[in-house]
Amino acid sequence: MKIAMGNDHTAIELKNIIKEFVESKGYEVLDLGTNSTESCDYPVYGEKVGRAVASGEADLGIAICGTGVGISLAANKVKGVRACVCSEPYTAKLSRMHNDSNVLAFGARVVGSELAKMITEAWLDAKFEGGRHERRVKMLMEIESR
Ligand code: RB5
Repeated sequence: MKIAMGNDHTAIELKNIIKEFVESKGYEVLDLGTNSTESCDYPVYGEKVGRAVASGEADLGIAICGTGVGISLAANKVKGVRACVCSEPYTAKLSRMHNDSNVLAFGARVVGSELAKMITEAWLDAKFEGGRHERRVKMLMEIESR
């Protein structure tokens, strides 16, 4: 399974830690940058992650900026993306189980690396439950075509 990862300049160190963690769990990582410490614009990298997931180039995405907010907003502008900002594992797990989130976002200025690993692990290990949630996710995605 391939995970697309994208981040802005605030999150290079955390991205590398999470990249290594994700790889250690047996996933392939598609690193979409940035890998430069020069100030950059989070919409560029949120869109890259969103497009990689929506096109099927990657199965899931992880997007990191200072708060996780800007980069998740950018990813969510791509049709087919359900990006969730999570600062703890419970929301991360439920975002998969109930909302079928396909992009996980968090903030490098919000969570430490150990908490970020716990969030990532909870999210990767959780599975979409379907059932009543299937209808609600379908309703969510129909908003995109109105
Ligand atoms: C960059 O300063 C910061 O605005 C960005 O990383 C992110 O937190 C935006 O949502």
